[in-house]
Amino acid sequence: MTKLFENRVAIVTGAGAGLGRSHALMLAEHGAKVVVNDLGGAVDGSGGSSGPAEAVVSEIEARGGQALADGASVTEPEQVEAMVAKAVDRFGRVDVLINNAGILRDKSFAKMTLADFRAVLDVHLWGSVVCTKAVWGLMREQEYGRVVLTTSSSGLYGNFGQANYGAAKTGMVGLMNVLALEGARSNVLVNTLSPTARTRMTEGLGIPEEALDAMTPQSVSAAALALCAEDAPNRTILCAGAGGYSETRIYETQGVSLPPEDQTPQGVLARMAEIRDPEGQREMPDGSAQTMHFLRMAAERQAPRGG
Ligand code: NAI
Repeated sequence: MTKLFENRVAIVTGAGAGLGRSHALMLAEHGAKVVVNDLGGAVDGSGGSSGPAEAVVSEIEARGGQALADGASVTEPEQVEAMVAKAVDRFGRVDVLINNAGILRDKSFAKMTLADFRAVLDVHLWGSVVCTKAVWGLMREQEYGRVVLTTSSSGLYGNFGQANYGAAKTGMVGLMNVLALEGARSNVLVNTLSPTARTRMTEGLGIPEEALDAMTPQSVSAAALALCAEDAPNRTILCAGAGGYSETRIYETQGVSLPPEDQTPQGVLARMAEIRDPEGQREMPDGSAQTMHFLRMAAERQAPRGG
């Protein structure tokens, strides 16, 4: 039987530990040649070592797979470009990129320094931009590419003490929305994973041990691989944890169209219940669809009645 990722080459960032390691092992198990990228630092991004990435490569090789360790920091374009060149040199191409690397610097916004805000934005959002940019041209040229970004419920829905992380993680959704449109015509598909799993990042949060046992990285990796397989969807936010799988979607309500005399703060507040009414809400295929929707409603409002 052909394996799901036979003849595919994948780069997984932050793959020396946690979810990235699990994605890398599962990709290799399904036939991919894997670049195991990891800086090997602590949860807050400090320090670094090539040990974790090399250990994952050894695990893959011990199971008969092919892999390459790389210590680039995802925030450094030159290091990332060198990693991609190394991948192409060794394996001939790059089909899959899973942007997974991440750090935490949790504090309430009142106590958070701007340096801690920027460091988290840098690794998650800028790092995903740098890595995706480094493979974008070759994926478009070969007319095949699968890119996965990693978001978080902390960004999608909020979590106390994670303003930096939440902002960075929801930035992935904006990046996906645009890249999914730009890549589609070259068969480069872009999706976002929203995981929840037991890793060093979720240690000490007070989650009961039995619950943590169910929150395996493997259950999340199954979703990660679904998002970068040949049959992957495009522009999907897939959530995964403890064997549960669901989709996050962004809807816009039908809303109202107000005449000029009501286009005031008071006029908007007076109609808030209707503006927020979920009846008839829908997804927008792109940003201009919202403008068109408002213009259509305005035209209907202005159209002479009767006749
Ligand atoms: P982890 O801390 O075990 O793994 C993150 C890896 O990224 C580490 O091995 C680290 O060395 C690496 N890394 C950090 N900065 C890097 C850089 N500049 N360049 C290259 N590698 C770097 O954490 P975990 O839990 O496996 O997280 C993986 C991803 O999943 C992260 O993006 C995280 O934000 C996200 N996530 C995890 C959740 C969970 O429940 N574990 C929940 C929501 C999102």
